[in-house]
Amino acid sequence: MSEACIKIPDEYSGYALSHFCVPKHYEHDLENIMIPWGLIQDRTERLARNIFQDVKDEPLTALCVLKGGYRFFTDLLDKLTTLNRSHGSVSVPLYVDFIRLKSYENSDSTGEIRVVGGDNMTNLSGRNVLVVEDIIDTGRTMEKLLAILAHHQPKSVKVASLLVKRRPDSTGYRPDYCGFEIPDKFVVGYALDYNEYFRDLNHICVINENGRKKYAVPEGSHK
Ligand code: HPA
Ligand code: MG
Repeated sequence: MSEACIKIPDEYSGYALSHFCVPKHYEHDLENIMIPWGLIQDRTERLARNIFQDVKDEPLTALCVLKGGYRFFTDLLDKLTTLNRSHGSVSVPLYVDFIRLKSYENSDSTGEIRVVGGDNMTNLSGRNVLVVEDIIDTGRTMEKLLAILAHHQPKSVKVASLLVKRRPDSTGYRPDYCGFEIPDKFVVGYALDYNEYFRDLNHICVINENGRKKYAVPEGSHK
């Protein structure tokens, strides 16, 4: 990793919902605010700078892992394009690409991944690829994705993940760029979802028992 993550300790209790603005429809579904939106922005600005400094003048293909990565992706790209405008002597030509992987249901990981959307990955051949992901959980999904990408012979692959979760069953995988290392709690917001809910929440929050029940996928139904 070119820079260590900001480490959020296990005993951290976050901010009360009353300290910031959250949509009324989620008021009863959240334990606390773990990372306010403004702090995500500030951290992303620094990650963009680190990436910019590492890449130098080479073109970069930023690969967004949908859907959870979309907000981090757009904010990171905004910050990179700002750097491109403001540094007269260096700039990074950017391409964008999008893939979608099979996601979680009821917050337990099956370890299965499938690329179910996005452009033809043969476009990645010979490119410097930056995978942009919302969260590294056990690390298995990312390791599988990297194996899939390697088949398409990119020139290089780096990974930027906004969050890395401290999990006892982690594979030990660490991304090249990481925003925050977080406790082993289920988080939502800033495009991270629980059964497709909470993507419309700006801050990264810890879901509560009420939220888990209210938005659980009914037994036997499949999305
Ligand atoms: N929240 C949302 N999606 C996730 C999480 C999480 O905590 N971990 C893995 N995918
Ligand atoms: Mg994800």
